[in-house]
Amino acid sequence: MKTDVDPIEEVLRYHARTKHHLGRFAASPRSLDWSTQPDPFRTYDGAPVLPLPLAADAVETGYEELYQPGGVPARPLDAAAIGAFLELALGLTAWKEYRGSRWALRANPSSGNLHPTEGYPVLPELAGIPAGVYHYVSRDHLLEGRAAMDPVRVAEALLPGTFVVGLSTIPWREAWKYGERAFRYCQHDLGHALAAVRYAAAALGWSAHLLAGASDDDLAALLGLDRKADFEGLPRAEREYPEAAVLVTPGTVRMDGGADLVARLAALARKAAWRGRANRLSPDHVEWRVIEEVAEATRKPRTSEGVAPLPEVPPLTPRPQVLRAADVIRQRRSALAFDGKTALDAGVLFGMLDRLLPRPGVPPWDLLPWHPRVHPALFVHRVRELAPGLYLLERDPAAHAALRAAMRPQFRWSRPREIPEHLRHFLLAEGDYRVIAELVSCQQEIAADGAFSLGMLAEFAETIRTGGAWWYRRLFWETGLLGHVFYLEAEAAGARGTGIGCYFDDLMHELLGLTDDRFQSLYHFAVGHPVDDPRLMTIPAYTHLTARRRAF
Ligand SMILES: Cc1cc2nc3c(=O)[nH]c(=O)nc-3n(C[C@H](O)[C@H](O)[C@H](O)COP(=O)(O)O)c2cc1C
Repeated sequence: MKTDVDPIEEVLRYHARTKHHLGRFAASPRSLDWSTQPDPFRTYDGAPVLPLPLAADAVETGYEELYQPGGVPARPLDAAAIGAFLELALGLTAWKEYRGSRWALRANPSSGNLHPTEGYPVLPELAGIPAGVYHYVSRDHLLEGRAAMDPVRVAEALLPGTFVVGLSTIPWREAWKYGERAFRYCQHDLGHALAAVRYAAAALGWSAHLLAGASDDDLAALLGLDRKADFEGLPRAEREYPEAAVLVTPGTVRMDGGADLVARLAALARKAAWRGRANRLSPDHVEWRVIEEVAEATRKPRTSEGVAPLPEVPPLTPRPQVLRAADVIRQRRSALAFDGKTALDAGVLFGMLDRLLPRPGVPPWDLLPWHPRVHPALFVHRVRELAPGLYLLERDPAAHAALRAAMRPQFRWSRPREIPEHLRHFLLAEGDYRVIAELVSCQQEIAADGAFSLGMLAEFAETIRTGGAWWYRRLFWETGLLGHVFYLEAEAAGARGTGIGCYFDDLMHELLGLTDDRFQSLYHFAVGHPVDDPRLMTIPAYTHLTARRRAF
């Protein structure tokens, strides 16, 4: 481990060197080495397995009910509920097949469908499930028992009816394809997974809170990721980093950051009996040193964290209830192309934007204890009753002066009459931005052919300099949550979304007039009416599991 480098400077340097520029992309493999394509499923050989019920079909919660605080009665915590929760959060949603190759899609999206994120439920004793730390294998919808823990001690640490989900990342999966920029994609994906966990909890009437105070060392101990022996068989398994712990609760609780809770569980884990050895995902690897360095630089110490006061906004106006949450979650897909003509109603867009504003008890934002630091800049192409142009949604009015000072002085900052009063959605410049939007998103047509596309402006350098280097990861998580709201909202509106990790960073900044790193665009996204590729065959997610599991 290096000690002579300032982690904050290291992170800022990593960010700068992993920008894509027109004509010069961040360093990556010249071509894909299919012989080392990483296995998208981690397993722990030798760990006892516990098949889970496929119970998501029975979850009747309406999609719209997710946004009504206290609207869904909490399901009791049992094996069926855990099964439904994991299926909706991290489970498979379909297989795709083309010319003999098959790949799985999941409730949580992933850059390049490479899925670096792993999930680890830490459960109290339940009927049929001993207390302990588990690893979730989405392919088989089962738990691998990693550590058996004393049920009395676990019950003492966790409030009744609650459990913890740990999330980790394996950067190699993304680095195999994307090289140095991969660390960013891992963090986007983590943000999507956090949102997916929060929405799945809401479908069961539960809440979920990021245990933001926990140290990465405690989290690594709790998830068994610091157990070198379990990763060091011959050959050695790929490095997996602890990322986040989430407390899932039957009702809303006031959280203090949860550092003690994770430390207590980690202490139990350190004394527990561990089973299983991590599988190796590729026969060979390319080393991407900067990824290890930025992972080290952003390692989080234990912190004490309060819950930030949120900007005041009126409650959400409920929309007609037509879809089940479990259906919207499982039909979520990335559009491969948009039709280039269908428009969205302005009211639908405003409903989506409203769901990007944090409100107490409303998912997914009540998962994060901090105030919003990411503001989307939208290229509106085809929205009825809204002039095409460049817009900015300020998710926190406190950011207004800084945003305005940092961006082009010519921008209009007007609020068209049709925009609801509380939505700080500003028109910056009217016009046809299709060519520009496509250009800044690595010339991808999806950024021009939909109803709108966007870049997510994060309050960047100051957040990292004052908060700590690990805020670099958190800013990406926040963009992932934002993208996830758009994904689900698009499905609910009969449209479709696509995350866009490939964009020309500084070209976007130049367009907005940003000349320094006070704000940086950390993720792009597009929403529109999809055109499906008829050559791709779709196969239901869990047909390969036995009928007995379905009947559970
Ligand atoms: C962080 C992130 C970045 C992505 N970047 C792109 C992109 O630049 N272009 C694109 O066409 N799709 C992009 N996608 C979509 C993924 O390819 C897609 O999520 C993945 O293939 C899984 O498919 P699914 O979303 O339908 O489950 C991105 C997705 C995520 C989560």
